[in-house]
Amino acid sequence: MNPSGVWRVELAARLGTLLRRSERAHFAARRPNPPRLRSRRLALGRDCGYQGRRQAGLLEAWPENAVRILGIITDTHDTGVALLEDGVPVLVVEEERLNRDKHTKRFPALALRAALDARGLELADIDILTTPWRAPRLRRTFARAIAKRFPESLNLLRLKSHTPQNNAIVLLELHLRQNICRTMRTLRLPRLQAVGHHDAHAAMFFASPFEAAQVLVMDGYGDDAATSIYQGRANRLEWEWKTDAFNSIGMIYTFLTQFLGFAGFADEGKVMALAAYGDDSFVAAFRETIRLEDDGGYRIDMSYFDYDAYGLLRPFRQKFLDTFGPPRRPGEALSDRHRAVARALQVTTEELVLHIVRAMTRRNPSRNLVFSGGVALNCVANARILADTDVERIWVPPCASDSGAPLGSTLWHHHQTLGRPRTYTMSHPYLGLAYDEARSAAALERAGLAFTRYGERELVQTAARALADGRIVAWYQGAFEIGPRALGNRSILADPRRAEMRDVLNAKVKQREAFRPFAPAVLAGRAGEFFEIEQPDPFMTLAPRIRAGKAHLIPAAVHVDGTGRIQTVERASNPRYYDLIEAFGALTGVPILLNTSFNRQEPIVATPEQAVDCFLRTRMDVLVLGNCLAERRAAAAGEPPDALAPAAE
Ligand SMILES: [Fe+2]
Repeated sequence: MNPSGVWRVELAARLGTLLRRSERAHFAARRPNPPRLRSRRLALGRDCGYQGRRQAGLLEAWPENAVRILGIITDTHDTGVALLEDGVPVLVVEEERLNRDKHTKRFPALALRAALDARGLELADIDILTTPWRAPRLRRTFARAIAKRFPESLNLLRLKSHTPQNNAIVLLELHLRQNICRTMRTLRLPRLQAVGHHDAHAAMFFASPFEAAQVLVMDGYGDDAATSIYQGRANRLEWEWKTDAFNSIGMIYTFLTQFLGFAGFADEGKVMALAAYGDDSFVAAFRETIRLEDDGGYRIDMSYFDYDAYGLLRPFRQKFLDTFGPPRRPGEALSDRHRAVARALQVTTEELVLHIVRAMTRRNPSRNLVFSGGVALNCVANARILADTDVERIWVPPCASDSGAPLGSTLWHHHQTLGRPRTYTMSHPYLGLAYDEARSAAALERAGLAFTRYGERELVQTAARALADGRIVAWYQGAFEIGPRALGNRSILADPRRAEMRDVLNAKVKQREAFRPFAPAVLAGRAGEFFEIEQPDPFMTLAPRIRAGKAHLIPAAVHVDGTGRIQTVERASNPRYYDLIEAFGALTGVPILLNTSFNRQEPIVATPEQAVDCFLRTRMDVLVLGNCLAERRAAAAGEPPDALAPAAE
């Protein structure tokens, strides 16, 4: 670096320190908001009044000098908001749950209003806004990319070359301000602080159960990186290492997802499932596309790829197509070649992740790993980290993908920028919106569904009996889960002992590819009996092997490779869900339920009305909305029976 460069870096560092100091002084001197406003808003009893009332005590006791941070993102896939109050996440709402547009890029106007209403807040009650992208950095990244392969690289400016993001993201802060002003009908906004994209992913460490951990972030690309490593201790994260934004296994996975005929930035999990059916015929060839480096880094061999000039428009060079064949056409049947390519991609990804993690554990003593970013949703690779490296405990947040980036940006600001201590551990994923029980009953009545309102014990026993009888139960409770997976509050549940249940679920409800597995939810204390796992996995982020001699007990939960994508359920995090699985275990001897998301080819349901609508559009047997239980009417003539005959014991 030349002397003027050093001078500029020094000046920037000093300015940054001054800014942080003045911000701390601002919050230290800040008076609490008038309680009158909060009480009045809470008394309004909005849609989410249950949650507002539940948390009213917390609001009334709002501590002096506490900070309320709203994270928000637009113009990229999975837009949404997150609210952090005095270091505690109280709401995370993705816009897709409310506008029903999966992976929506639209400004999260509905989520913003709903989050503020649920907490009885005005925008003026927010101390600072954060967003999980630094647009100037992103502009520099793309300017460098365009310069590197000019003029073909001008294709990167075309929307179709980067469909998961609007072009407007390069002016993110301006666009956010405009949209928030328009949505909230105000010209006065809290200060907006941009947080680096990988910094936001890494900040999930602050919600982890670890006092100290290594932190790995891997996704498609951030504002200037695709893979990043940090060291976390207490309320600090230290950046250690990164690859550049275009050197990305996450992007390769997405390009191959599209190559195999699925939707990029959405269906990567399908490719992971399909990989278990493939042979090894392409594994050696695929390893050639990525060079592993001695320091734990990697380098994509760009003689196979053209995405640095054409993005999603034309990601592959002829050499790739000559080696692996043409892409799967729309509607083309899956062939052995497609399955083998999926396997080659998955194996190479696993080997790369292991390569990075092994280098991390060579350099640093901690055996705790926090893994975040979209690649961390690869639960097969995650299980291999535990099985094949020195890592002893892994924690992947339920919102590892960009659905958690707004929350991460608030955590980064609270701890890293303001220096506040950690007071929170994420023990459950139920940070979405909740709706009044009365609204559930009204939705059932409007749909003409007869229902019974049960007490706690009767409700659990009735649902468990239905499940043991082979019936499909739609299970809707409390606040919805954050992240892409249903974890017991917006779930469709079924009996894992019946091998045919996967086909039944697909036929009656999900209508998804037959090769995709359904996940087993197991009582945390019994997980080790059935699965080769020695740590909790409350967010369905690991796919351990099913123990020898146990697979025949839960055939519907066993993937073709002998693994299961488990969720371990603690009573403390969701008592009613735990009791249901326990009651099913008491009836059947198997403390495990099949769990899939409450939806059909759409975002997971959020409201009671959406739940009722999904129930009516499908052929599920039982709908449980809070304390209300409705059963499907008798089958129309000619339809298959709703309930399966009990299996021979
Ligand atoms: Fe990301």
